[in-house]
Amino acid sequence: MIEAEQRTFRPVPDEVEWQKVCHMDDIPPLEGRRYMIQGMPVAIFKNRKDEVFAIHDECPHRGGPLSDGIMHGSQVSCPLHDWTIDLSTGSPLAPDKGTVGCYQTRTIKNEIWLQFPKH
Ligand code: FES
Repeated sequence: MIEAEQRTFRPVPDEVEWQKVCHMDDIPPLEGRRYMIQGMPVAIFKNRKDEVFAIHDECPHRGGPLSDGIMHGSQVSCPLHDWTIDLSTGSPLAPDKGTVGCYQTRTIKNEIWLQFPKH
């Protein structure tokens, strides 16, 4: 049973799979945590409303670790040069440019699941 919201960030491929990544308690509110999933660094964030965001953990500027950034609202500030990245889209605020991938998330019984293309 799905307990929390489900969010779609980008077109969903035809063939997808869900992978359990961590527990809600593993992510402190407004902080990020890095997980290596299918060989890719993924930053997971949780806001004070227990909304979960998952994004590729490399800043679109110069690859800084977004999981070490400060979350505010649905955005994160990169710890290296302070670009602000929208966690819902993976894009920085203008005038900065670029994008990183976001992942669809689900919370089931306080476990965080992410959607990936099926291999
Ligand atoms: S690497 Fe993130 S702002 Fe420069």
